[in-house]
Amino acid sequence: MTSPLILVTGSTGTIGSEAVRQLVQGGHRVRAMMRDPAKAAKLRNAAEIVTADLTRPETLASAFAGVDKAFVVSNGADIAKLEANAFDAAKKAGVKHIVKLSGRHHDADFMAGAALARSHNESEERLRGLGIAWTILRPGLFASNFLIWLVRDQRAVFLPVGQGRDTPTDPRDIAAVAVKALTEPGHDGKIYELTGPEFLSYAAMVQKMAEKIGTPLKLVDVPKADAHAGMMAAGVPSTQADGLLQYFDGVKAGHIYPPTQTIAEVLGRPPRSFDAWLDDHAAALRG
Ligand SMILES: NC(=O)c1ccc[n+]([C@@H]2O[C@H](COP(=O)([O-])OP(=O)(O)OC[C@H]3O[C@@H](n4cnc5c(N)ncnc54)[C@H](OP(=O)(O)O)[C@@H]3O)[C@@H](O)[C@H]2O)c1
Repeated sequence: MTSPLILVTGSTGTIGSEAVRQLVQGGHRVRAMMRDPAKAAKLRNAAEIVTADLTRPETLASAFAGVDKAFVVSNGADIAKLEANAFDAAKKAGVKHIVKLSGRHHDADFMAGAALARSHNESEERLRGLGIAWTILRPGLFASNFLIWLVRDQRAVFLPVGQGRDTPTDPRDIAAVAVKALTEPGHDGKIYELTGPEFLSYAAMVQKMAEKIGTPLKLVDVPKADAHAGMMAAGVPSTQADGLLQYFDGVKAGHIYPPTQTIAEVLGRPPRSFDAWLDDHAAALRG
């Protein structure tokens, strides 16, 4: 009997690429879906590659053909629409289990009205009503965001977060939970709130980063308008930028939920600390 075929969308991104890597390493049959096959080199492994676009449903039938389980990851201005297309294609193809990457706090009062939260909530609801086994992952802040947020030539991180705290989470642990949910029984109908082990202020995270890379760094509590302009200049879709700013308001006001034990419970080992993530990414942070 051949082993189940697992499709990963968003396979060129932070979590998807790591999930593909871990699935291949674990000897599973993996199909990595991407819009641009030129990016396949980034995966550097033995996954099958399929080219498809979540905005174009006509490309998805072949991507999902023969697939047993799918890890649905997307990003951009309209996550709900992209993922609805994936879910519909999965259902038509007879996929038996879908794991969706969502996020924490989309159900929090402080995120009410944010298009980003609405989009994930709508997508979660659609998945739960699809009639296919599902697992929803709601991770907290990705530690890897600091690779984008660190402005190296100014030795600073510019975020409107004040003294707020958060739960930096290692993308490798998030991907590892996805792999468990896709390859072992017992995860059907579960919503997993995934965080790293610590509840750190952003200032403390920046300080740890400075110590790790051996360069003084500062956290600058910028006005929201400046943060918005910076995100626009970086090409972040406006719905995402607005959602992030609303999130940072929540951080600043102290509304972030504390860490959970879920990664330890699912993986049977503690989640990686922020220091552990920094140890493995110091060179990338130095640039
Ligand atoms: N960053 C955080 O702290 C955080 C925390 C909690 C939850 N999340 C959630 O995590 C998700 C993002 O995960 P990530 O950071 O791993 O993603 P990412 O690195 O931003 O990558 C996004 C992936 O989605 C793919 N994609 C985008 N539009 C697509 C389309 N039309 N068709 C097919 N693929 C498409 C991209 O492909 P291309 O390479 O072709 O662009 C890429 O592979 C989002 O839903 C976000 O809300 C993030």
